[in-house]
Amino acid sequence: MDYHIRKSRPDEIEILKAITVESFGGVSVDHLLEQKLGVLGGHDWKWRKARHIDADLAANDEGTFVAESGGQVVGYITTVVDVPAGKGRIPNLAVTAAARGHGIGRALIEHALDSFRQQKLAFAMIETMETNPVGQTLYPSCGFVEVARQIHFACRL
Ligand SMILES: CC(C)(COP(=O)(O)OP(=O)(O)OC[C@H]1O[C@@H](n2cnc3c(N)ncnc32)[C@H](O)[C@@H]1OP(=O)(O)O)[C@@H](O)C(=O)NCCC(=O)NCCS
Repeated sequence: MDYHIRKSRPDEIEILKAITVESFGGVSVDHLLEQKLGVLGGHDWKWRKARHIDADLAANDEGTFVAESGGQVVGYITTVVDVPAGKGRIPNLAVTAAARGHGIGRALIEHALDSFRQQKLAFAMIETMETNPVGQTLYPSCGFVEVARQIHFACRL
C-alpha cells in the first residue's frame, strides 16, 4: 500500500476525529467508562474521545502527522512535548480499519520518534489499554519498554 506521512493541516481536524471515533471502540477509557456507567453528561464516548484531538492540537498544533494514501488521510498520530523535561508523548494514534496491517501505524510511530529526536528530546512515552492487543505488541516492537500499569476508577455524581 503506497502512502506518505506529512504534517496535518488545520482543515483536516474533522477527518482525524472521524478516524478516532471509528477506531477507539473498546480500546479507550472513554468507551470503557460508558460501558460501566452509561452515557454521562448527555454525551456519548465518541463525543468525549473526539475532543482529545482538539486538546492534542491545542497543546502542540505542529505535532500531528497524517498518513495519506490515494489522496485520503488513512491514519494519524498526535504528539505533545515537554522540552525542559526532555519528554515527548504520543497521546493518540489511529489507522482506518481498511488501511491496517500495512505498517502505517509503525511508520507513524517512527515519524513521531524522529520528530522528538530532531527536537533533542531524551525520551518518549505512549500508553495503551489492557484491552488493546495491538498496542501491547506494536509498542514494544518499536523499542518501548513497559514502565507501569494504571487503574482507572470512576463514579457517577
Ligand atoms: C494500533 C493501530 C494504529 C496500528 O495500525 P496498523 O497500521 O495496523 O499498524 P502496523 O501495520 O504498523 O502494525 C500492527 C502490528 O500489530 C500486530 N497486530 C495486529 N493485530 C494484532 C493482534 N490482534 N494482536 C497482537 N498484535 C497484532 C501486527 O502483526 C503488526 O505487527 P508487525 O509489524 O510485527 O507485523 C491500529 O490497529 C488502530 O488504529 N487501532 C485502533 C486504535 C488504537 O488502538 N490506537 C492505539 C491506541 S493505544
